[in-house]
Amino acid sequence: MSAIVSRVFNNLKGNISHSLYHLPEILLTEAAVIILTVIAFNHYLNAVFALFLFAAVNVLILNLYGKKRKSEIDKIKSVINNIRQNKITSPAEIKLGSQLTVLEDEIKSMFFKMQVDIANMKKLEQVRTEFLGNVSHELRTPIFAIQGFIETLLNGAINDKKVNRQFLQKANQHTINLNNLLNDLIDISMIESGQMKMSFRYFNVKDYLEGIVNELKPHAVKKNLELVLNDVPENYQLFGDKDKLKQVMTNLIMNAVRYTETGRIEISVIDEDKKGRIIVKDTGIGIAKDSLERIFERFYRVDKDRSRSQGGTGLGLAIVKHIVEAHGSKVEVKSEIGKGSEFSFTLKK
Ligand SMILES: Nc1ncnc2c1ncn2[C@@H]1O[C@H](COP(=O)(O)OP(=O)(O)OP(=O)(O)O)[C@@H](O)[C@H]1O
Ligand SMILES: [Mg+2]
Repeated sequence: MSAIVSRVFNNLKGNISHSLYHLPEILLTEAAVIILTVIAFNHYLNAVFALFLFAAVNVLILNLYGKKRKSEIDKIKSVINNIRQNKITSPAEIKLGSQLTVLEDEIKSMFFKMQVDIANMKKLEQVRTEFLGNVSHELRTPIFAIQGFIETLLNGAINDKKVNRQFLQKANQHTINLNNLLNDLIDISMIESGQMKMSFRYFNVKDYLEGIVNELKPHAVKKNLELVLNDVPENYQLFGDKDKLKQVMTNLIMNAVRYTETGRIEISVIDEDKKGRIIVKDTGIGIAKDSLERIFERFYRVDKDRSRSQGGTGLGLAIVKHIVEAHGSKVEVKSEIGKGSEFSFTLKK
């Protein structure tokens, strides 16, 4: 019997302690009711009786309030616990009941954001690991080749007039590739860590493109390709960072040269309302549709061996994409296997 009484008492105490939040409002309301009762009954004894009655009602109301509040808090606690212990896998599993829909929605959206953040972090971690793997692999290739040539030379080939120069030249070419790779890696890390300083200015597009085309022409001529700059209006000005854009143009033109066997590479400028579009078009091998989405990824190459044999690292277009995006623009590609590719981007006028 005493156990039951103490349990009921403890429950009551627990519930009331949860209702204390509403205590001032309840006491105020009841004080008003008591005063009105005293005035209405106008008798001392009746008033004392009313006081007791209201005290009892008080306990009852506080008990009800507290019980409700306690059950709500218990529900919230249990949802938070379940989230913490990873027992909840989707926002739909979060349920707090009709009284707490606003809070339920808030917890659901917080949970959803948490899930997205965690997924992004995992993806970043994976990208980082893949990147490190790629970097080590790309470094290993030229280093092994250089090591191989030097060892062969040391083992006697140095005295063989037929091959010694050729081996040295090959080793030298690999050191150039290694240097290119390191420069690209430095660029990528500068860009991605937000350290790339841009310096935007208006520049004369014709003079600028003529300079780049003349500089790169020997590479095209070596492959019997035509490299032409189509007519650009005399005083046409565009807004951008000339140095960074030179890296973009060099990359796009060198890709066109690298991946074209016969035909021509055309550079053109088209006026578009408030912008100017710079286009690099080739008659090369083209890019398959499923590769088109991936060519801007770091280290992605459609044909790894072909690209590597020409000193490609697969970082070129990733750098191009970053620089063009830093100009508030986007690289567009159209390509057809066997017919050629067209890369373009716009700059502000
Ligand atoms: N004009 C093009 N025609 C055909 N394929 C191209 C062309 N431009 C790029 N690609 C494909 O996209 C890949 C990625 O190009 P990206 O410039 O990033 O690397 P890369 O040229 O191989 O090396 P590098 O980092 O030295 O530029 C290339 O390996 C090639 O397969
Ligand atoms: Mg390239």
